[in-house]
Order: sequence, then structure tokens, then C-alpha cells
Amino acid sequence: MQAAKHEHWTSSFTFLLAAVGSAVGLGNIWRFPYIVAENGGGAFVLIYLVIVVIFGIPLLMSELMIGRSAQKPPLSAIQSFGTTRAHKLWQALGWSYLLVPLGILTFYSVVAGWTLDYAVNTAIGSFNNLQDGESAKIFHTLLASPGEQIFWMTVSIGITVAIVARGLKSGLEKSVEILMPALFVILIVLVLYASFTGDFMRSLRFMFEPDFSKITPKLVLLAAGQAFFSLSLGSGAIMVYGSYLTKDISIPKMAVGVAIADTFVALLAGFAIFPIVFSFGVENASGPGLVFVTLPIVFNDMGWIGQIFGVLFFLLLAFAAITSTISLLEPMVAELSERGKFKRARAALYTGAAFWVVGIFVAMSSNILKDVHPLGFIGRFHGMNIEQVIEFFSANVFMVLNGMLVAIFIGWSIKRSLTLEEMGMGGSVVFKIWFLLVRFLVPIGVLFIFLDGIFNISG
Ligand code: PFF
Repeated sequence: MQAAKHEHWTSSFTFLLAAVGSAVGLGNIWRFPYIVAENGGGAFVLIYLVIVVIFGIPLLMSELMIGRSAQKPPLSAIQSFGTTRAHKLWQALGWSYLLVPLGILTFYSVVAGWTLDYAVNTAIGSFNNLQDGESAKIFHTLLASPGEQIFWMTVSIGITVAIVARGLKSGLEKSVEILMPALFVILIVLVLYASFTGDFMRSLRFMFEPDFSKITPKLVLLAAGQAFFSLSLGSGAIMVYGSYLTKDISIPKMAVGVAIADTFVALLAGFAIFPIVFSFGVENASGPGLVFVTLPIVFNDMGWIGQIFGVLFFLLLAFAAITSTISLLEPMVAELSERGKFKRARAALYTGAAFWVVGIFVAMSSNILKDVHPLGFIGRFHGMNIEQVIEFFSANVFMVLNGMLVAIFIGWSIKRSLTLEEMGMGGSVVFKIWFLLVRFLVPIGVLFIFLDGIFNISG
């Protein structure tokens, strides 16, 4: 079979739409607001912003650079840097970059399925006239139902496969050109609506007035983990998207663009959610249920207009999720088709099908298989169900490890002349700062996130 040709983005703008699409997802709109709510508002936001600047941007630049320099998907890219004995060891990093996104895809597509389920159910009025406690019950019924979750997970993987199968130009680019502007418009409409009807000033204070006494090592590590996930680092998505960049595009500019847009969306999601949550007095509105339990109550209280905004909100989440799932499937599909193993469409179908099967187990982790603890015989994993084990290894262990190793790879292993050339900044101060960060601060800092992820050092 003939190997597929490596393609390129039509412009730096389409790259930005796609990379921001990958970064902006459930992490920004679902997870960020509830973690902020649970962890001291402004203090968390402040630390988060600092981490995006000192860890996030340098790592985005690093991953984009590897992809762009090699013009190959992640595994091939890392393999292409050399053939020495030491380099053979680095290939493990390539494999990890290839597999981590698929691990994430299995649980991410289940939650993406919930958002589709909620969009449809809000539209058909299933959440109208909610009685006390009913919203929580509906959410728990969903978690308890393997069939409902598997159905919506199948829809979300199906959409993802259909997009990725069509290739870079007619699949990925076309979809982000529609979904990303729609996402921004919906988000702005929701923020405007929330600021007119809700308690905007309180949200502003909540998000931007840091209570410094709340800054603890645990908070810092939590913010770092969140930033990592939110920026799609350590998981092949950014690297593969970087590989479709042409040589004339500035990597530092693209990295800064992605980081700013991603952070901006996370903050806006807070401003879409907190004002209405505050003004409706649903005070204990935190945790994963913030979006799936509390918001339907609030939307219901607002009558028909709430129903419209409810549909918009869950569509927003679904769009954000789909532009992320396509970036999770793309690394493997690009690898298989560019190595000539399968045509792209088949590669997308087979990979999607394989991970759909794993997704079924994930969807059953909260119900039929909730008492199955695959690694329960090891103390650390005691009580973790299948979903939690997959999430732990892909998001807490290997994703973070990839970030740390990629910094070491660039800082210490590959030729500095190549790095200088790819960054296109000469030996400027910015380059020197970036290089210092990547050599020292990033690996050491990320090591702490990694150790905390495994051993929970911050308690
Ligand atoms: N950045 C996405 C989010 O915040 O929801 C999640 C994600 C997408 C992580 C793609 C990793 C990835 F490769």
C-alpha cells in the first residue's frame, strides 16, 4: 500500500483554529470552572495563569517544534531524530506519544457523549419542570445506564471517525472552520446573557481576587495538571498538528496564540457559569456535577429562555469536545496512513473501532463493572474502577511523563543548531529564556506534577 503524503494546513489561521480546538474542550468548560470553585477561586486562577506562561507555552513550543521539524506524526517524528543507541531509548517516548491520546480518547468520548445526550434532552424538554433533587437523579441515571452512555459514546466516536477519515483539508479543517466560530459565538452569547441576568461582579471578584492564604503545594500541582490537560500537552495532538505546519510559520507565535485562546476560553466559561449559579443561590455547586446537575436546575428555573440557553450551552460543550476528540484520534491515523499500513479512512475506522471497544468498558465502569478494580491488588489502585485506571495512566502518568521527557529531549538530546533554526528567533533573549526553561525548570517542575500524580505527595 502506498504511504499517504504528509499534508499541510491551508494557513496559520486554520492551524490556530484546529490547535485551539484541540486545547479548548471539556477541560476548559466543564472541569476548569468546577476546579476553580472547589479550590479557592482567584488563588487557583492566578497560579494557573503563571503555570501556563512558564510551563505551558515552552512545552507547546517544544511539541510544535518536534512535529514541524520532522514533518511526520509523533512516533515517526521522534524516531527520525537519530539512530544512535541512546536514541533508540527515546523511541519509547514516541510510542507513548502515540498511545496516550488513545487512552484519553476512551474516557473523553464517554463524557463527550454525555454532552450530546444533554443537548438533545434539553432540546426535547426532558429537563422541563424539574422537581427538587430530580436533576441529580437524572445525572445518576445516566451514569447507571450502560446502554445510554454507550449509545452516546458511539455517536461521539462515530462523528470523530467520520471527520478524521476525510483527511486534513476536508475533514479536520472543514470541521474546525464551522465548529470553532460557532463555539466562540455561543460562548460570548452565554457570557453576555449570564452577565445581564446573573451576579457578574461577584463572579469577577471570585475569579480575580486571590486569597493568598489558599495557595498551597496541592493547589499549585492541581493547577499544573489542569494546565497540562487543557493545553493538550503530552498527548501527540499538538505534535501532530505541528507537523502540518509549513516552515514559514512562527512556532513561538503559534504557541502563544494557542495558550492565550485556551486560557481565555476557560475564563469565559467561568463567566458564563458562575454569574447564573451565584444568582440562583445554588451555593454548593461544585464538583463534576456543576455542569450536569446544577446548570439544568438553573436553566429550568429560567423557563423557555433557559431551555434555549441550555441547548446552546450543551452544544457548546459538544463542539468543544469534538474538536478535541479529532485531535486525539489523528496521531494514530496519521501514523498508520503515512506508514502505508492502511488508507486514512480505514485507519480511522479501525482505530476508532478498537477504542470504541475500550470505551464500552469505560462506559460500564460507573455501573455494571463498577466493582471491577483491575489493579486492586496494588495498594495505590485499591478501589479504582476501569475508567479511573485508564484515566490515571493516560492523564496522570504518561501524559505528564511525556511532557517532562520531551523537554529533556529538546533541551539535552537533539542538536541545538536544529532547535535554533526551527524556532526562527536566532539566539535572541526570548530563545535563551525558552531554552533555559526547557532544560531546567520545565523538567524539574513537571517531575513534581508527575510524582504528585502517582504518590499524591501534596496530600
Ligand atoms: N485539551 C482538551 C481539554 O481541555 O478538554 C483535552 C485534550 C485534548 C487533551 C487533546 C489532550 C489532547 F491531546
